[in-house]
Amino acid sequence: MHFSDLGLPTIVAKAIETAGYDTPTPVQAEAIPAAIAGRDLLVSAQTGSGKTAAFLLPALTRVSERSKGSGNGPRVLVLTPTRELAQQVEKNALVYGEGMRFLRTVTLVGGASFGFQTRALSRPVDIIVATPGRLMDHMRSGRIDFSRLEMLVLDEADRMLDMGFIEDIETIVAATPAERQTLLFSATLDGIVGKMAERMTRDPQRIEIERKEESGNIEEHLLYADDNNHKNRLLDAILKESNFDQAVVFTATKIGSEEIADKLCDMGYSAACLHGDMPQSWRNRTLNDLRRGRIKILVATDVAARGIDVPGIGLVVNYDLPKQAEDYVHRIGRTGRAGRSGVAITIAESREFHRVRRIEQYLKRQLAEAVIQGMEPTRRPPKGRRPQGAGAGARDGQRRGGYGDRKPGSGYAGKSGGYGDRRGSSGPRQGGHGGERRAPRAE
Ligand SMILES: Nc1ncnc2c1ncn2[C@@H]1O[C@H](COP(=O)(O)OP(=O)(O)OP(=O)(O)O)[C@@H](O)[C@H]1O
Ligand SMILES: [Mg+2]
Repeated sequence: MHFSDLGLPTIVAKAIETAGYDTPTPVQAEAIPAAIAGRDLLVSAQTGSGKTAAFLLPALTRVSERSKGSGNGPRVLVLTPTRELAQQVEKNALVYGEGMRFLRTVTLVGGASFGFQTRALSRPVDIIVATPGRLMDHMRSGRIDFSRLEMLVLDEADRMLDMGFIEDIETIVAATPAERQTLLFSATLDGIVGKMAERMTRDPQRIEIERKEESGNIEEHLLYADDNNHKNRLLDAILKESNFDQAVVFTATKIGSEEIADKLCDMGYSAACLHGDMPQSWRNRTLNDLRRGRIKILVATDVAARGIDVPGIGLVVNYDLPKQAEDYVHRIGRTGRAGRSGVAITIAESREFHRVRRIEQYLKRQLAEAVIQGMEPTRRPPKGRRPQGAGAGARDGQRRGGYGDRKPGSGYAGKSGGYGDRRGSSGPRQGGHGGERRAPRAE
């Protein structure tokens, strides 16, 4: 399958070639022709598998033709859970729409000036990429005309619902023309996402590209720690021993991300934190610096867990466990994108073994437990209550990978004994999750 088989207009096909894409990814090969044919889609596919182009290329295909409607309103609306993701999607739209001189895109996100956004909305716009909160603000002041909207895209729909945006989304959808095309991308298509999808799509085609057996390009390890002090020493060792261009360290709290970033800076790393309480201008600068390679280590909360695409990220460290099991998949998915390889190391305190178990249940496979020599945990998850799964039955000693055996810079790909040893079978990425709700949070 080639991009030329997908029915894209020449102008878009050329931009794709310039972007260096040879062949469509599986999700693109399925979604693009169906979307161009006008179908509503419900899509779920692995992290880093090119879902953005899967909705933007059909969107640009529409925009490349003259609008049948009149007015200045958007022809395509893309909703995303975070400001950073909205900005990234707009950037991608400009890359894929490079040859389209008339193309006008606007990003509407919180933390940015209303004045600029309002001015942008007073002229004709093709694509709006927005977070639900700020879009609603503009809608309330009557600045958005959806009368010529042709396509609505929800990226990371499950995350938007998790963040409490369901009512906003329902209001936004109700304000758009009923005959629009709807493309919904989500980690899960079950539970409340599925219910919402039913209400907002017509005869949708479901596209579920499951994570391959032996996911291959992300090498995962689990390290147990006794306490915070031990965690810090482990993080230190991981960063010293690992061979990576750039890394993301995920923390559970905003303050935690600041403290660790400060510590890493003191140690001489070019590190910075990213969390939702920072002024948007800092958030933007931080992510731009990461993209440009000026920042080597990003210490972030889950605000950076979804969608963020920085090819240089070769290492993800879960300094704290994610609150929700599915966030694990998204966090580690910041590495190993577009077929590249990456390493993901998760640190858990011994008393958190049940949370590890929950992640493993979600993954339907066991995480390979490793130790760093000289930094073994003194407390281990209680015997017999350790995660049981596909790999269960291996004796204690055998389950531990030889993390510390590696020479610095030797790479991770299973070179040292036991290190690359993966037990358990990779299951599909979707567990039965989907019913949980959380209180609304800021984007
Ligand atoms: N057909 C292709 N060939 C090569 N690279 C591609 C192709 N399609 C997308 N990419 C690249 O793959 C990377 C990941 O794409 P994208 O961010 O769209 O993934 P995603 O599926 O949305 O991931 P996530 O689930 O994390 O949001 C990007 O750097 C993009 O440029
Ligand atoms: Mg994405």
